[in-house]
Amino acid sequence: MGRIVTLLNQKGGVGKTTVTLGLASAAAAAGHTVLVVDLDPQASSTWVLGIDPADVEVSSAEVLGKASPHDAIVETSWSARIHLLPASNRLQLREHGKPKRLRGALEQVAESYDAVLIDCPPSLGNLTTSGLTAADHAVIVVEPSALGLRGIAAVADLIDEVWDSHNADLDLAGIIVNKVPGVSGEADRRYDELARIVGKSAIWQPVIPHRVIVNQATAERRSIHAYGARSADVSIAFDQLWKKLRRKTRA
Ligand SMILES: Nc1ncnc2c1ncn2[C@@H]1O[C@H](COP(=O)(O)OP(=O)(O)OP(=O)(O)O)[C@@H](O)[C@H]1O
Ligand SMILES: [Mg+2]
Repeated sequence: MGRIVTLLNQKGGVGKTTVTLGLASAAAAAGHTVLVVDLDPQASSTWVLGIDPADVEVSSAEVLGKASPHDAIVETSWSARIHLLPASNRLQLREHGKPKRLRGALEQVAESYDAVLIDCPPSLGNLTTSGLTAADHAVIVVEPSALGLRGIAAVADLIDEVWDSHNADLDLAGIIVNKVPGVSGEADRRYDELARIVGKSAIWQPVIPHRVIVNQATAERRSIHAYGARSADVSIAFDQLWKKLRRKTRA
């Protein structure tokens, strides 16, 4: 089916970046190579992967214009197996570009990687549309809260629109649930509600637990796998999710 995967949700802070980078880190730990594509003007993936967005000369913004992806992709300090197509705040100017442009660019490089993971901004505008148009698979990242579920219908509508207008081959791969508290009746109820809305089989297992170490890893700009036993339950969850994603990207 192809190896380009877009991770999205219109809601901010649910963990799109954390899940993108957790999957990249799991892929590298398994000996696979990935390209992370940062499509967010906030440039969180870029920053957490150790690169200052202000120093980026050729970013995804230029690749959405006319630049070659080869001129933009850089290595990261996390692993020789994780490359990055960095973001810059110039992405804000790309809210009106051609959605198919990114697809053409990523097709030139996708064969070099086991997966290309696109981290989207928290909006359903042109950048996320470009991400979906470029993708073989779409993964929605949600958190089990009332507000976390509210936006799902709008995300589904955008996917519908992209199917119709730009990318009829897009596979809605499923939903990754992040920030799941250890014990919470409210989170359990929201999880059940999500399962009713999207169907149980659309929700990927395992879910990712809410852990302070995840927040610490983001702040310290390190991969979740770098914390050994302290983050084992989270890194094992990402390892399992990566295995599932890899089956899809190889199919
Ligand atoms: N499972 C988790 N446990 C604890 N903290 C988490 C978890 N997942 C994400 N976080 C924290 O929540 C914050 C938001 O996560 P992240 O940046 O990945 O969300 P996002 O959806 O990419 O946000 P944005 O919409 O701004 O791009 C970060 O500080 C991150 O470390
Ligand atoms: Mg993000």
